[in-house]
Amino acid sequence: MREYSFEKSYAMLEKAKQWVPNGIYGPRTPAFLTYGSYPCFLTKGKGSHIWDVDGNEYIDYMCSFGTNIIGLCNEEVDAAAIEQMKKGDCFTLPSNRWNELAEAMVNQIKGQDWVVFAKNGSDVTTYATTIARAYTGKNKIILAEGAYHGSHYWCTHSSFGIPAEYNAHILYFHYNDMEELKRIIADNSGQIAGIMLTPHHHPATADQLMPAPGFYQELREICDREGMLMMIDDIRCGFRLHENGSHVYYNADPDLICFGKAMANGYPISAMTGKEIYKATAQGAFFTGTHYFSGVPMAAALTTLKVIVRDGVVDYVNQIGLELKQGMEQQALAAGLKISYTGPPAIPYMRFVEDQDFSVNRFFCGEAAKRGIFFHPHHNWFISGAHTREDIEKTLQVTEECFALTKKAFFE
Ligand SMILES: Cc1ncc(COP(=O)(O)O)c(C=O)c1O
Repeated sequence: MREYSFEKSYAMLEKAKQWVPNGIYGPRTPAFLTYGSYPCFLTKGKGSHIWDVDGNEYIDYMCSFGTNIIGLCNEEVDAAAIEQMKKGDCFTLPSNRWNELAEAMVNQIKGQDWVVFAKNGSDVTTYATTIARAYTGKNKIILAEGAYHGSHYWCTHSSFGIPAEYNAHILYFHYNDMEELKRIIADNSGQIAGIMLTPHHHPATADQLMPAPGFYQELREICDREGMLMMIDDIRCGFRLHENGSHVYYNADPDLICFGKAMANGYPISAMTGKEIYKATAQGAFFTGTHYFSGVPMAAALTTLKVIVRDGVVDYVNQIGLELKQGMEQQALAAGLKISYTGPPAIPYMRFVEDQDFSVNRFFCGEAAKRGIFFHPHHNWFISGAHTREDIEKTLQVTEECFALTKKAFFE
């Protein structure tokens, strides 16, 4: 199989470094991938495929870190966005898409009565903590160790340039360790505003963990007893596990839920929903951003949500994701390689067992990228409704070759 080369990408990266710190920052930097084996810049996308500046084509299993749920340049979503764009995007007041999307979200998300809109996931995870703190009059927030809730100071994994005071009220427990959680709650009784969890545990660089049986029922009882809020961060899983919210998939009954990423198929918008009893508190909160009110992403979200339900996208992404999982597990077994492939098939996480520093996975994913398959070596992947059976077949041809190369490079 022909291997891709990336001359234009890396030349552009050097240029970018003249004007931008590190050229590209955040998780999109090539240093976070396998340096030299991935492109740095893309030019276009369609459905599940993306093209880089050197003209190489990929089947994309990162879906822009989850946003692309029904594929890039989806014609229905783009038509709705363009229609709104022609009328205007950012107005002095909200557009008439505001009520339409608010009603659609409240109807679609089970057990939730009101909604606010913002831009990024971090905007609404932060806002959820504001509501929990204002409602309870308490400060402490419990998180699961290793979970990601955004880049804002109270929850970022970085401490670079950030005073420690910003996360002084954050307590951590190990996901699913109910005894530890109860101990933390007892030790901080009367001081906890709430707990924020992703629907299941999907940390970067570690296996995904499903909630233990009865976890959410017990957590609900604890929250009610302690007077603390249950907040679900559905920003990454949202609309890949259940069209009415991932809490339905896991039989949880949260107070507040955060959404973003897939809800508008890549157009920039996030949302937080809440139960009726918290609405009066929300009325007192200061919550705004210049672009929070723009109409185009709202038009895109309205169509995206409709298509997800109409086309049975959730079932499809899990079915086709299962085909990829089964295929890769069989190939690894046949090659005598031990992999761990965890999480729901629509957002799988794959690593090699006994690969502490990720060098094996970085090699494997780098070889796949050079052959047109865009995985990530230490982040979960995403399946979209635009991935086809042909994509999965092509992917499995490449992964078979990459497992063989990995075996040769590390285990022979
Ligand atoms: C679970 C989760 N929460 C919050 C966020 C933050 O969202 P954003 O990057 O849009 O601020 C992310 C982003 O990856 C996420 O995966």
